[in-house]
Amino acid sequence: MKIISVVGARPNFMKVAPIHRAVKNFNQLNKNTITHLICHTGQHYDKKMSKIFFDDLELPKPDFYLGVGSGSHAEQTAKVMVEFEKILLTEKPDYVLVVGDVNSTIACSLTAKKLHIKVIHVEAGLRSFDMNMPEEINRVLVDRISDMLFVTEKSGLENLRNEGVSDTMFYFVGNVMIDSVKHYLPKTKISLILKKYSLEEKKYVLVTLHRPSNVDGKEQLRKLFNLLNNIAERRKVIFPVHPRTKKHLEEFGMIDSFNENIILTEPIGYIDFLTLTKNAELILTDSGGIQEESTYLGVQCITLRTTTERPITVEIGTNQLLGNDLDKAESAAIAVLNGNKKIGQIPEKWDGKAAERIIERLKG
Ligand code: UD1
Repeated sequence: MKIISVVGARPNFMKVAPIHRAVKNFNQLNKNTITHLICHTGQHYDKKMSKIFFDDLELPKPDFYLGVGSGSHAEQTAKVMVEFEKILLTEKPDYVLVVGDVNSTIACSLTAKKLHIKVIHVEAGLRSFDMNMPEEINRVLVDRISDMLFVTEKSGLENLRNEGVSDTMFYFVGNVMIDSVKHYLPKTKISLILKKYSLEEKKYVLVTLHRPSNVDGKEQLRKLFNLLNNIAERRKVIFPVHPRTKKHLEEFGMIDSFNENIILTEPIGYIDFLTLTKNAELILTDSGGIQEESTYLGVQCITLRTTTERPITVEIGTNQLLGNDLDKAESAAIAVLNGNKKIGQIPEKWDGKAAERIIERLKG
């Protein structure tokens, strides 16, 4: 069996790493029956958005690098398709495995499907029901053309059923992103990131913002800027800045006028970021994955978005969804800092074995 797994953007790397490890373990017991190749589209290309994750996650150098880089959605998607088709025609894999919801995910699944190669989607079924999000368009389309769908939380099963996907095509396996958290958690003990920024455990707020709806427009970014400055009156804030966000903070003249209690950094690698997540008193984010990681780690999280495709993190986890009213978000953040914490549980099957279940199912 030959599988090509696709990675393109930062949130993909920690999802493919456990799959690669599970294949390796399977092959040790079964005399190399799966060939697993990794294709990096190059959607993210900065060292700190890409290479550092290969090192931290012990991923091998990708077998194929497409080098597509940035561009409009159409340009990026089209460039990946043209380059990926060449690889598929030469390699003729049995499966293309895609993860998550980024442009590389839709580009590679669509290319494979048109060549009648089976598509596996890991992290299927998630829905924000907001078609203004590029990721939601990608999720819906990828699921529609996938042959095997691996689901992280129960809402995903319900969504796929509601869209008419046959029960025989999807499997509830848990969350590969949590496989990575569990596997690499011991390494956070040797991270020096807290020391580097003079942060104390459970005494700082971690911030990440990169959604176009939050950072591309001046008015919304100004509101978030004010919110962060107000939080910084009470706690140290560390804010690793995504390239998209940096560009807009510079463009709107905000980058140099943050409260001095806010530490702005470059994007941070996997182990150091996991260390920051685990030890934060509170996280303010608009990321998808961080909602899940904080729920697994029992860390308080306020999601600065109006919708989430990961509702389990709000229903039973430590996440609060407060994007439509930033005054309310600020009050909720202050309440957390005053000790009003949400007690959470770990969702079903988020046990570090999702990738193993996927490989078992593929060989079953
Ligand atoms: C992409 C994903 C998003 C994911 C995010 C994580 C899509 C539609 N969006 O958004 O779901 O949460 O990655 O980061 O696929 N840039 C660099 N260096 C890089 C990569 C990007 O400077 O290595 C800059 C470029 O100016 C680029 C911009 O960031 O135009 C946006 O990058 P892009 O890949 O288009 O989308 P993200 O906002 O990163």
